[in-house]
Amino acid sequence: MESSKNNNGLNGEVKIPGDKSISHRSIIIPSISKGISEISNILKSEDVLNTLSAFKLMGVKIEEINNKIIIYGNGINSLRKPNEKIYLGNSGTSARLLIGLLATQNFSSIIEGDASLSSRPMARINDPLIVAGANIKSNNGTMPINIVGQKLKPIKYVIPLPSAQVKSGLILAALNIKGESIITEKNITRDHTEIMLESFGANIKIKREKNLKHIFINGNHELSSNNINVPSDLSSSAFFIVAALINKNSFLILNNVNINPSRDGILRVLKMMGGNISILNKRMVNREIVADIEVKSSKLNGCELDAEIAKLMIDEYPILAIAASFASSPSNFKGLKELRVKESDRLELIRLNLVNCGVDAVVNENNLFIKPSKNYLVKNSEIKTDYDHRIAMSFCIMGGLLDQNLKILDYQCIKTSFPNFFDSYNNIGGNLIE
Ligand code: S3P
Repeated sequence: MESSKNNNGLNGEVKIPGDKSISHRSIIIPSISKGISEISNILKSEDVLNTLSAFKLMGVKIEEINNKIIIYGNGINSLRKPNEKIYLGNSGTSARLLIGLLATQNFSSIIEGDASLSSRPMARINDPLIVAGANIKSNNGTMPINIVGQKLKPIKYVIPLPSAQVKSGLILAALNIKGESIITEKNITRDHTEIMLESFGANIKIKREKNLKHIFINGNHELSSNNINVPSDLSSSAFFIVAALINKNSFLILNNVNINPSRDGILRVLKMMGGNISILNKRMVNREIVADIEVKSSKLNGCELDAEIAKLMIDEYPILAIAASFASSPSNFKGLKELRVKESDRLELIRLNLVNCGVDAVVNENNLFIKPSKNYLVKNSEIKTDYDHRIAMSFCIMGGLLDQNLKILDYQCIKTSFPNFFDSYNNIGGNLIE
């Protein structure tokens, strides 16, 4: 796919698809509840469809009627042994959450994924489960993973790294463990699992103590069904928010976006950089905060970010780096170690591709320094994505600001999170050619 310069601004309303994190949870949690749940606006991307297939394979009846997904849950212990390996494609969220869930089921299963997922670290979720008695065998801490479901001891674990996936996997295991599990977070991360479980009647309590968050779960307690309206994804919105800010004569409207405070770092940072972003009509839907967002072309300043904020916007660094490349002063983003173990080594790919576009970008340990300039001369127009959807979309946006076209390699990976990205971008004035 080629991305070329936008001649006019980007204008109009963008329909952003459903939130990816909430969509995964909207399949997993109803599938282990008792009763019928109706899910609207679920994200139908490859990652989420892999989670959906996994639950069908484990015997859950799931139908689509009038654009809604209907899930007929039969309870916490009702999943059936899959008669083949569970394939999870590119999706780290599906993998970490399912490892937790499957560790306590009364059958054995094998999960596997694509080349990228097969190289991502799974010991972070396996190890605390093994301490609680789980029988999990991996390929040196990576996929494929063999799980022999067991009765586990209650989990008592302080999660050493910032990971909502690890937290959620452990919570899902705890739901099926007799007694009280206590999972403690030192780093606050997205809390969609806790929020959704509360509304499904789980016996879950949260206690905050200084910088720590303790999650108490009393397991062996059935969940009741609920309907979910999935809001639009802030991480997908970020590509359009940044695009509107850095293109001249632009004004975009994005409706019904999830702005959960454990996810909204990108909004805080872009506003701090001088972005003209209005958050309108804040409201609660299924206990999550949603709002409409209006964005106008803006003059951005660079910024210094410490590791703390990274937890609230870890998926947004690729597109933030593009924003920083068009700011009036340099930026320095610190503490980005986790970016190295995402769908690709994102830190290295951001640096490499920015340098290819003529940007002065330097990685020093786990920090990223970006010095913007007025005119970029592309050195190598081929953008290496390593099949990483967020790298691919970020450089589609970059291409709209440059005099030379960018060729986005392996761009099909965009389907893992944003199947309509191409049309959504071109409909508001973008210039992508397939
Ligand atoms: C996610 C958690 C984050 C994020 C991922 C989605 C989730 O991963 O990067 O895109 O839905 O829980 P980590 O838990 O690895 O930080």
